[in-house]
Amino acid sequence: MRLPGDKSISHRYAMLGGLAAGITELENFSSGADCASTLSCMRALGCAIERQEGKVRVQGRGAALEQPEHPLDCGNSGSSMRMLAGILAGQSFASVLTGDESLSRRPMQRVATPLQKMGAAISGAEGCRPPLHIQGARLRAIEYQMPVASAQVKSALLFAGLLAEGETVVEEPVRTRDHGELALRAFAAQVNRRGNRCSIAGGQKLRAIRATIPGDISSAAFFLCAAAIFPESNLLVDDVLLNPTRAAILDVLIAMGMRISVLNIEEHHGELAGTVQARQGAGLRGTRIAGAQTAALIDELPVLAAIAPYTQDGIEIRDARELRVKESDRIAAMAENLRAMGARVEVREDGLLIPGRQPLHGAEVDSFGDHRIAMASAVAALGAGGAVHIRNAGVVDISYPGFFTTLQALLQR
Ligand code: S3P
Repeated sequence: MRLPGDKSISHRYAMLGGLAAGITELENFSSGADCASTLSCMRALGCAIERQEGKVRVQGRGAALEQPEHPLDCGNSGSSMRMLAGILAGQSFASVLTGDESLSRRPMQRVATPLQKMGAAISGAEGCRPPLHIQGARLRAIEYQMPVASAQVKSALLFAGLLAEGETVVEEPVRTRDHGELALRAFAAQVNRRGNRCSIAGGQKLRAIRATIPGDISSAAFFLCAAAIFPESNLLVDDVLLNPTRAAILDVLIAMGMRISVLNIEEHHGELAGTVQARQGAGLRGTRIAGAQTAALIDELPVLAAIAPYTQDGIEIRDARELRVKESDRIAAMAENLRAMGARVEVREDGLLIPGRQPLHGAEVDSFGDHRIAMASAVAALGAGGAVHIRNAGVVDISYPGFFTTLQALLQR
């Protein structure tokens, strides 16, 4: 199989393409609704964008965007809202970022606080929830220690740093995905990194790129985990992102007993991609995920929870409070769905403990309006004794519109 382009990279290339000089040409752009939200916001900010399925052409405007006539609708996409906030903070106009019901519940203080320190005026609804009102300013560089591990906030601050006067330094508590740093470099900006600190000098000019975006490894994770629960499965994923800050799912599955090989590997614009072969080994062991590993696996935790009942010794997830403020409360959502399917699940404030060797049965479950909960529940359903009905499963379109078709095609082989 092959997957639509990585969501994290698609967002960043589209945004930086708009801020660059020249025309950025992207292939295998994410087919998800989230990245379409970023494209429509960039259009509203004055960038001419053409799209034909996976091909996207962005006419860059340089660092100065155009004041939008209406609030910018980020839909369900936290990435769009947080990273655009960084760009809008450095513009000479006022703008408003809005989102759907789920996004309107999500915390934006984490991005507003540092951007305010840089000189932008930002206000939200109670608790700094969307809509976000941003009055752009001539930004001052800051040195900022992020209290929460968030790649979106890190990218937002680096994008704002590009537009600021002086050198902006961002330090993260644990290493998170580095697509912001790599994308800035791909567009010709200099970004320095030392340990968990990275810095960028303001005023650098970006240059357009041509790129093919590697398949989304967080989407691949659903199929890899599905393969993990079927003896003798053999799955080949071509052109998938293998950036080390995103590939922790491969290490975990290997530790659990899967046989995984990377058959070839290439680098484009600093991002690694290649072909992964995954086969089930002798049974599936359990695991415990905590600390920095939790942050590295943040989007893969729902599907790991989904296969936990099928493991020999269960899966424990800790230090995952962030899961409670994703598109849904993913700890509560996975616990509820797995329990509906007959599993015993212990819920912690910061995670889950799901014992192994638990047979699941058919049930009616909910996506909770969250694409990853819908897909993770589908993977849990594959091993269940009866049919599982997932309410509002169409939300998979947020990151992967073809999910159910691809899953069906793989199962038939
Ligand atoms: C993302 C970072 C993660 C992740 C999200 C995409 C990104 O969120 O959950 O799906 O592209 O930077 P946080 O940075 O808020 O942890």
